[in-house]
Formats: sequence, C-alpha cells, structure tokens
Amino acid sequence: MEFGYRIKNEWLLDDGVTFLNHGSFGATPLKVLQAKEEFERRLEREPFTFFIEEYNVLLIESLSKLAKFVGSKEENIVLVENATTGVNTVLRSLEKELKPGDEIITPNHVYHGVWNTMKFIANRTGAKAVEFDIPFPVVNNELIIEKIINQITPKTKIIILDHIASPTALIFPVKEIIELCRSKGIITIIDGAHAPGMLELNIESLGADFYTGNCHKWMFTPKGCALLWISKEWQSKINPLVISLFHGNSFQEEFAWTGTKNPAPWLSLSPAIDFYNALDFTKVREYNHKLVCDATELICSELKINEHANYDMLGFMSSIELPVKMKIDEKTTMELRNHFMKKYWIELPFHIFDNRIFFRISAQVYNEIDDYKKLVSALKDFITKNK
Ligand SMILES: Cc1ncc(COP(=O)(O)O)c(C=O)c1O
Repeated sequence: MEFGYRIKNEWLLDDGVTFLNHGSFGATPLKVLQAKEEFERRLEREPFTFFIEEYNVLLIESLSKLAKFVGSKEENIVLVENATTGVNTVLRSLEKELKPGDEIITPNHVYHGVWNTMKFIANRTGAKAVEFDIPFPVVNNELIIEKIINQITPKTKIIILDHIASPTALIFPVKEIIELCRSKGIITIIDGAHAPGMLELNIESLGADFYTGNCHKWMFTPKGCALLWISKEWQSKINPLVISLFHGNSFQEEFAWTGTKNPAPWLSLSPAIDFYNALDFTKVREYNHKLVCDATELICSELKINEHANYDMLGFMSSIELPVKMKIDEKTTMELRNHFMKKYWIELPFHIFDNRIFFRISAQVYNEIDDYKKLVSALKDFITKNK
C-alpha cells in the first residue's frame, strides 16, 4: 500500500488540517471504527446473550492477538481503558508495599498525569515522589543510565519510566534500566503509553515488573483501549481500581469485568491489528521514522536550530525547542496550540520541559514531507511576528 496523502482518506481526519499530533490521542481508521460500531450493534441486539455468552470469547480472542503483537504471553496481560489507568492500577495496589521514607522515582520527562499519581500515592503512604533531571536534547543512553545510577539510594523502592517520553519524545533504554533496577531490588513500572505500534515490542523479554501501553495511540484502536502486563510474581497482588463480580478469581477474570461498560474499543483490537498488518509493520516503521527524522532536519536547518535529539533515540515523534521567548506556563502552551490551529490550520502540541517551550511533531503514514514544509512557513511567520 502506498503511504502519504493517498491513504489519508482511510481516516476521518479533516483534509483542511495538517495533522501533526497523532501522539496525543491517536487517530482511528474508518475501517476500525466501523468494526467497533458493528460490535456495539451486536451487543444492542441482544445485550444479555452478548455479555454472558459472547463477550468472554471475543475478549480472549482480542487478548490473544494483542499478546502476539506486543510480544507478551497471553496469560500475563489484561486490558484497561488507558495508560493512566494502567499506572494508577499498579500504584494503588503497591501502596501496601510502601512505607514512610521510601522513594518512588522518575525522570523529569515523565507525563504530568503520572507525576500527579505518584504524588497522590506518596501522600497516602508517607513515601516520597522524586523527579530527577535528565538533560534534553543533548543526551545519550549512557548518560541516561548514569543519571539513574546516581539517583538510586537504599530508599528507592519504585521507578516509573516512560518507554517513550511525552514532552521530549525520547525512547528510553528501558531494558538496561530494568536490569539495573532489578539487581537492586527496585520495582519497575514502565509507562509505554506511546510504545505499542511505534516500537517492535517484546514485553516479556524486557523483564519489568509492570508494563502498560496504549493501543489507541499508535496501534489504531478506538479510544479506551490499553494493555497492562503484570509479571507472574505480582499477578495475585494487583487488583483493578474497581472491584466487581469476579474479585478473588484469577487476575485476568477480575480485570475482564469491572462493571458494565462499552467493550467495543477492546474488541476492536482484532480489526485494528488487521489494519496495521495490512500496512506492514516494517514499512510503517521505516516510513514514519524516516519522515520524522527528515522533518526534524528540515525544521532545524530552516530555523537555524542547532540542538535536537539523536535520531536513533526517536520513533515517530520529535520535540524541538520553540526559538521564541515566551511566558513559560501551561496557558501559553494551550494558546500556542490554538494559534497554530486557527491561523495556520496545523494541529501541533506544545509542552513545557526544563523551563523551555517545545513543540512536538508526529509522523504517521498519512503524512508527507509537505506537511512539515507548511509547518516551517508557519513557524517562520510566527517567529517574525513574535521577535
Ligand atoms: C508517557 C505518557 N503516559 C501516559 C499518557 C496518558 O495516556 P492516556 O491519556 O491514554 O492515559 C500519555 C499521553 O500522552 C503519555 O505520553
């Protein structure tokens, strides 16, 4: 299949918008949305039969296909609504492992919602949530590992690590960090919110204690579909945030039913994976990664920006510092997003990192280099007017 504008009509994306923010919420192809609607209709035709007889069979099929896609054993994986729920689920169940003075640590590249969860858990247990600095964009895997080694103390109980960071788009060397932390008895929680569909995953081989990741960002499922992988040794100690009918059964049965809800996003895993496989995973990875690197090169050379991330630390996204002095607060980042959308019709997210403002581009198979040329023109116009 040819990539670029020719396949953009596989999505409902607005033709008038240059969409460079696949990262925030993903974008679901039309075919997958149709399959989701078909599950909803099937449910509504005979709700009782669907939930009592069909749901479990379909869920097991979905899990089995997902497990293959992300390199997990079927028996180690459950579904949740999103990565936020994945992290919250694990941390709430781990509260009983924490005592006052223990540290839960994370690099400053952490997603803000997860940092809030860490502080919330710290408040409830007397543990301390600790954020430590890893520089950006001039960084490499050795420096990241060195920073983590320096941060670990006898009090470090849990580390939360993004597989791909939200504000900086960096891919972290999680396997090496997990090995290091395991050898020191530190519990490892990997927030892979962006990883499924962007990285060739083999979750089992990473050796983490916990791994969560969204399927609704880069794997093309409808919103509300994420995985939670739990290592064997923890499965009996982790409960869903909502306790319901199957509490006390196996952890997979417990997670499969947390009250009545629309299961269609979970059941759409199978059509989403079919859609992905038809594109060809290897080709998607090659196209998106090359496009994001070419786009980064183009933007940085046109705007005379010298520092950007190493290309081998990027997947399908790249964060670049906005070369304009602005007030550093969340309101500014939202105003910038609104401005680029309303004035230039470009959907682009802005983030604060290390007291600087970055914009983050994404590359997906419906993008072409012309999208980033439009962005360059918009940025030049914006910079001229805001000198
Ligand atoms: C690293 C990371 N963790 C968690 C999330 C939250 O994802 P969700 O809203 O699907 O839970 C995001 C969202 O972009 C993220 O980048």
